[in-house]
Amino acid sequence: MEKHYQFAYDYFDSIDDLTPEENALIQRARQRAHHAYVPYSNFGVAAVGLLENGMIVESTNQENASYPVGICAERVLLSTISSVHPDIRLLKMAISYYNPGGKDQAPIAPCGMCRQALQEQQLRFGQPVLLLLSGQEGSVIRVKDSMDLLPFHFSATDLRG
Ligand code: THU
Repeated sequence: MEKHYQFAYDYFDSIDDLTPEENALIQRARQRAHHAYVPYSNFGVAAVGLLENGMIVESTNQENASYPVGICAERVLLSTISSVHPDIRLLKMAISYYNPGGKDQAPIAPCGMCRQALQEQQLRFGQPVLLLLSGQEGSVIRVKDSMDLLPFHFSATDLRG
């Protein structure tokens, strides 16, 4: 039997087509990406989170001379929120990047490890996290539920058997 996986997402030509709140989150991510600590890749990523109490938290990727020690902007954000505001739910995450040596005008999506980390956050609060993906300019992809990006996921339920 063949089965199919599909999900719906929103595509916008420009941030001007989004709500003022989401537009502002993306603009903050676009700017914050310029301040990432990326001496090795020179590829700055930023994640900006909107919490349910209206607070906004910003993060960037943090690299290390021992390359695997580096951490993606999305997981820096999730760890910061979970440490500083452990009981406050994350509603939305805007992700953007700055790549002075190359292309940065198309959306990027979180890496596999960050999708797993997003899943943990969602299962903890039982609510979806909305993602806003974009480069320094141009189109925006809006994913209503970050778990749409991680089919066949592994979670605590599997550990319990
Ligand atoms: N990176 C992120 O911060 N988020 C992603 O979703 C993909 C990749 C970082 C890791 C590394 O510092 C740089 O981008 C190049 O891979």
